[in-house]
Amino acid sequence: MRNVLVTGGAGFIGSNFVRYVLRTQPDVFIVNLDLLTYAGSPENLIDLPSPDRYEFTKGDICNQALVEDILRRHAIDTIVHFAAETHVDRSILGPNAFVQTNIFGTFSLLEATRKVWLDENKADAKTVRFHHISTDEVFGSLTADAPAFKETTPYSPNSPYAASKASSDHLVRAYSHTYGLPITLTNCSNNYGPYQFPEKLIPLMILNALDGKSLPIYGDGKQIRDWLYVEDHCEAIWRVLEHGQIGESYNIGGNNQPTNLEIVDSICEILDELQPGSPYQPHVGLKKPVADRPGHDRRYAMNTDKIELELGWQPKHGLREGLLKTVHWYLEHNDWIQAIRKQKEYQSWLEKNYTERVEGRQ
Ligand code: NAD
Ligand code: DAU
Repeated sequence: MRNVLVTGGAGFIGSNFVRYVLRTQPDVFIVNLDLLTYAGSPENLIDLPSPDRYEFTKGDICNQALVEDILRRHAIDTIVHFAAETHVDRSILGPNAFVQTNIFGTFSLLEATRKVWLDENKADAKTVRFHHISTDEVFGSLTADAPAFKETTPYSPNSPYAASKASSDHLVRAYSHTYGLPITLTNCSNNYGPYQFPEKLIPLMILNALDGKSLPIYGDGKQIRDWLYVEDHCEAIWRVLEHGQIGESYNIGGNNQPTNLEIVDSICEILDELQPGSPYQPHVGLKKPVADRPGHDRRYAMNTDKIELELGWQPKHGLREGLLKTVHWYLEHNDWIQAIRKQKEYQSWLEKNYTERVEGRQ
C-alpha cells in the first residue's frame, strides 16, 4: 500500500487527481490536506470511488506541526503538492496570500518532510517522494515564433503568481540538492475540465454565456495558451511518480496553440449546438473586449519531448473533444454551479475584477 498525502486536493486539479488515483490505483491510500479556501470545496469530492481508501483533513500547509503529524500517523511515503493560490488576476490585486501559501507553505511542507523523512526515518528515506506541481508560467512569455519552453529554459516569471511558483520550485530543487530529498517536479500548461472554479477563462465563459452575460476578452484576445484536459494532467503526474527520474523536472502540455478568442469562439459554437433554444444564440454575440491584464503574458508553449520520450506519456484528449466534455459537465452539474454562485466571496470577486475593467479603469 502506498500512502499518499495530496495537498490542495479539494481544488480543481487536486480533486480530479484524487478521483483519478482512487479509480486507477487499487493499492493507494490518500490523505487530502486542504484549507478549503474560496477555491476548494468538499463538493468537488462527493461520490469518490473507493472512499474507504481516502481521508480528508482540513488544515493549512503552513502549519508544519500538523503536516509532521500527518506524515507520522499515516506513514506517508509520497507527497503530491498541489495546494496554492492559483489565479493570476487575484495575484495582481492582492499578492500577499500568494507569497504566504505558495512560498512559505511550500517551505513549511519541505521542512516537515526533512524532519520526518530524512532526520527521523533515515532507513526509509530512499522510498519516499516529494512531487511538486508547478506551471509553465515560471518560464515567462514567448514571442509569436519563439520555440516552446523546455525543462532547461531559464525561469523568467512575470506575475506575482508566477514569481511565487518559481520561488517554490527553487526551494524544492534546493531541498533535493542540499538535503537529498527525493523530489520530482512537473511544469504544466493551462488545465481545463470538470470542477474548475469559474474565475478561470473556460468555466467563466461557459457560465456567463449560459446566463446571457458578456464574455470579457482581455485586450485584443490574441494571447496564446496551451490547453490540457485535466485528466491527462493527472495521468502524467502518476506516470512521473511511477517512472520519473528522482531530481528531474518534466514539462506537461496539450500540444495546441489557440488564441483566447479561438477558445471563446469554440465554447460559443458548442453552446449553440447544445442549447438550441437559448435566447442568447449566437453566443459569440456576447463577446466584449475589456481592459487588459497588467503585464499580461502573450504566449506560452510547452516542449513535451522529455515526458513523451522518457515516460511514454501523451495527452489523450484533443482540444475540441476536451472542450465538448467540459461544456457537457457544466451543463450537467447545475447544483455545483449554483453553490458557487451563492458564495458572497465569488460575487465580490466578479465585481472587483470586472466592474472597473469594463469601465476601462483598470
Ligand atoms: P485551485 O485554485 O483550484 O485549488 C487550490 C487548492 O489549494 C484549493 O482547494 C485550496 O483550498 C487549497 N489551498 C490553498 N491554500 C492552501 C493552504 N495554505 N493550505 C492547504 N490548502 C490550501 O488550483 P488548481 O488550478 O487546481 O491548481 C493546483 C496546482 O496546480 C497549483 O499548484 C497550480 O499552481 C498548479 N497548476 C495549475 C494549472 C491550471 O491551469 N489550473 C496549470 C499548471 C499548474
Ligand atoms: O499556464 C498555467 C496557468 O494557467 C496556471 O499556472 C494558473 O494557475 C492558471 O490560472 C492559468 O493561468 P492563466 O492566467 O493563463 O489562466 P486564466 O484562465 O486566468 O486566463 C487564460 C487567458 O484568458 C489569459 O490570457 C487571460 C485571459 N482571460 C482570462 C479571464 C479570466 C480573459 O481574456 N478574460 C477573462 O475573464
